[in-house]
Amino acid sequence: MAGRVTFAKAPCYTKALSFNSLARRSGGAYRTQSPTMQIIVPGDKSITHRVLMLAAIASGRSEIRGGLAAHDTRSTARVLRRLGVPVGRLGSRSVAVAGRRFRAPSVTLDCGNSGTTARLMAGLLSASRFWSRLTGDRSLRRRPMRRITEPLEAMGARFAPEAPDRLPFAIRGGPLEPIRWALPVSSAQLKTGLLFAGLAGEVPVAVREPNGQSRDHTERLLGALGVVVEERDGWLELQPGARLRAFDVAVPGDASSAAFLIGAGLIAGRPVTVEGVGLNPTRLGFVAVLERMGARIEIETARIELGEPLGTIHVAPSELRATEVEANEIPGLIDEVPILAAVAARAEGTTRFAEVGELRVKESDRLALVARNLATLGYRATAEENILSVTGSDHAPTGLVTTDGDHRLAMAFAALGRAPRARVRLDERTSVAVSFPGFFSALDRITR
Ligand code: S3P
Repeated sequence: MAGRVTFAKAPCYTKALSFNSLARRSGGAYRTQSPTMQIIVPGDKSITHRVLMLAAIASGRSEIRGGLAAHDTRSTARVLRRLGVPVGRLGSRSVAVAGRRFRAPSVTLDCGNSGTTARLMAGLLSASRFWSRLTGDRSLRRRPMRRITEPLEAMGARFAPEAPDRLPFAIRGGPLEPIRWALPVSSAQLKTGLLFAGLAGEVPVAVREPNGQSRDHTERLLGALGVVVEERDGWLELQPGARLRAFDVAVPGDASSAAFLIGAGLIAGRPVTVEGVGLNPTRLGFVAVLERMGARIEIETARIELGEPLGTIHVAPSELRATEVEANEIPGLIDEVPILAAVAARAEGTTRFAEVGELRVKESDRLALVARNLATLGYRATAEENILSVTGSDHAPTGLVTTDGDHRLAMAFAALGRAPRARVRLDERTSVAVSFPGFFSALDRITR
């Protein structure tokens, strides 16, 4: 289509992919004897948020195929509509977004459970010269926000928080100044919030992450759209000036959703094949950890779309042993710690996760709840300071899990509930709709 950008590769953001090393085991060395259950997971949540927002500020009408239709991405679509941007129905085969200048909303912008919506939209709204008010559900209103409002304020946005460091807050965008900001934690939400502010406000932005690289979808997408984003001496630098044009994209399957099914397969001793899944190396930290634990994983069928590698992950039933997960690995598997902990509960020995303090400020205090629920189910598990330790055992996990409404806890413990002879109950199951609405039927298919 004339004037459209179709993502094929990222021309500007060209950080070397360690993808070849991930694709190295094609050839069937680990092919399983029993028939593998083939699963397609819903679209990537992080990418869906980003393409909705980028399409909203681009000029023209974009089409998004395969985007995630779940509570979190619906929050982003709803917020954009309230800012006057026509966004089609998520869940349709293709979602149209007609980009335009935001207009002042007449109601509060409710980000629901979605930290990504709140922090990324704060970045975009920093360049809109009107007041708007952002809020979220009970969980999101407990999560820290100064880490994003402080640098945006330094760029020139104004904030009126109703409670220190928390939502709700009002925000008024302004003319923005360039910024060079060292983030206090490695976080793709913070990095993207600042890059989006620079993009919308047309000022240079440089950000640096302290240890370990967080997911780089924003850099890849912006690169594919012709925005200059470069890595120099550990700083990620955005040069303003490129006018975003409408684009068509196909969103790959979510590697995090795949991780919960792969973990369930290992726990239940069933082979699993996930197809059409994103293979971005900054999302596959969990694969490296599972392999160290003895998991027989094969990754194949590489192609690049949206600047993102995409393909198939197979896992075969495997004997599992403990491992040490180092601090610099955490940003690359931040959302997978609950399922890795569940797998560690079935492995021989004690697995330790270093520097996982960030888990205390996710949708719940995931660090405390992973340890507490594992203990409830009869495992030795501790969360001390910011270290999580889990000692594996082959006893039958039994008991009632408290998820605090956290989708990733519900999925991780549902997966552990597929261990042989397990009798695991969850206090709720509906939270999975935040990121993976069909999770339980996919779980049933692979463990039946
Ligand atoms: C996300 C980044 C991560 C992750 C979240 C999605 C994103 O948060 O936990 O589920 O899309 O940028 P942090 O960047 O705060 O670690």
